Amino acid sequence: MVSTVFTEDRRPHILIVDDELDTLRALVQGLHDEGFECSTARSAQEALERLGGGYDVQVVVTDLRLPSMDGLDFTRTLKMSWPEIHVIILTAFPTSDSALIGGRLGAARYLSKPVSSRELSAAIHEVLAAARSRAKSEQPAGAKGPGEPGESPPDHFHGLVGRHPLMRELQNNIEKLAKLPAPVLILGESGTGKELVARALHQSSPSRTEPFVAVNCGAIPRQLLESELFGHKKGAFTGADTSRVGLFVSAGRGVLFLDEIAELDLDLQVKLLRSLQEKEVTPLGSTQPVPWHARLICATNLDIDRAVAERRFRQDLYYRINVLRLPVPPLRARKSDILILIDWFLRRFCGDREKPKRISEEALQILMGYEWPGNVRQLENAIIQAVALGLSDEVQPEDLPAEILRVARHPSRAAFPTYDEVVRQHIIDALRLSKGVRTAAARRLGLDRNRLSRFIKRYRIDVERILEEEPTPSPPWGHPSSPTGRSGLR
Ligand SMILES: Nc1ncnc2c1ncn2[C@@H]1O[C@H](COP(=O)(O)OP(=O)(O)OP(=O)(O)O)[C@@H](O)[C@H]1O
Ligand SMILES: [Mg+2]
Repeated sequence: MVSTVFTEDRRPHILIVDDELDTLRALVQGLHDEGFECSTARSAQEALERLGGGYDVQVVVTDLRLPSMDGLDFTRTLKMSWPEIHVIILTAFPTSDSALIGGRLGAARYLSKPVSSRELSAAIHEVLAAARSRAKSEQPAGAKGPGEPGESPPDHFHGLVGRHPLMRELQNNIEKLAKLPAPVLILGESGTGKELVARALHQSSPSRTEPFVAVNCGAIPRQLLESELFGHKKGAFTGADTSRVGLFVSAGRGVLFLDEIAELDLDLQVKLLRSLQEKEVTPLGSTQPVPWHARLICATNLDIDRAVAERRFRQDLYYRINVLRLPVPPLRARKSDILILIDWFLRRFCGDREKPKRISEEALQILMGYEWPGNVRQLENAIIQAVALGLSDEVQPEDLPAEILRVARHPSRAAFPTYDEVVRQHIIDALRLSKGVRTAAARRLGLDRNRLSRFIKRYRIDVERILEEEPTPSPPWGHPSSPTGRSGLR
């Protein structure tokens, strides 16, 4: 275990990560002269292996450009398992974007290369001094909520914060499944932390030093996705100037994370199925299959069982990816974690230099009363906004996003349905009253049968299923809202 508290008389241990030998040598020499103990690693994987092996490190200094896993991905992975280690990122090509992302991932400093050992040493001293003064200021008074005297610090499991029984159960399941090689399917609403769960599975597995390769199947155009996943040969299509191995192969013996899997094109589903069955991929423009060895983790926020029933997702592929299933609960089902998450985000977004802001009682009440349709991501964004805009050291109600305040001030609007939800529900009511007979339902609605069929398709209404379901009681405006607070429409 890496220790986080160190005494003044012990020399702080710095791990320097850079693939250029000359830079490594110069930094080690310089920092050694400044009184630090140093170790080196030439890649993110090597650094993670060292940390995993119990290296007692207080600060990691990393180059932004590293082979296979870059400095930002490395920072993210490192902070999940060792949130207490301070990270300083060095780069020869500073951009405000990467500085911002680095900061959001928990990097303490971002310095331009070339950096002198004096400059680097000063930054390390500053970061360590800030950590010491934070630890001191938090000890006697105790933080509000999770940091109350006598309580343990926010519960942390590879970046997943939470101590609600549902989160404990999730953590136990992650630990159990991490040891198995079979594919995992992670299910949950948007923003619940599915990608974090996938990374935690990887971090808890024996192959945690191998790559974690994530791809969002819903965000990449079809042909590009095909070549990203399976690779291509030079000249396979216009613009393919060089051959490329796909992500299946570059994930090595690590994890290939297919996010938004339910949005995969039907013909790509066929190709994916074949690759899973044969444990080989055939790059575009090639006839030579290549073996792959990674563990597959898939995730979706859609109702994949319904997609299978409606033949939008192949059943045979579903059976392949749905071997081990991990549901992630929505935030509203674990409201006691809101407090711990607020505390965690306040610490993270106030930066290493400042004392974290606190949250006022009024603002806390509003956040606890909210239903969080966008789950943890929405809470995280609310705290980022409050930290950025708030003027005092306490987050006040007026620092919170307008949509959250609106609901707090007009609670009845929280459940106010959208136009599409009302129309969808009206059609469902007519179908139920007509026992699923479309001609009768169309007559009730004043539509012709074809138009009703188009609506049924557009609103993805499963007529058989709604006839089996109990109708929910109507709220004052006459139509029930969906039980999740969101429409099934996307
Ligand atoms: N339990 C948690 N602890 C700390 N941070 C969390 C937790 N859950 C989610 N987050 C944060 O919320 C944001 C959304 O998480 P993530 O991307 O994993 O969600 P998702 O379920 O994959 O969302 P989507 O379906 O929209 O892709 C991230 O910034 C993540 O760090
Ligand atoms: Mg995601």
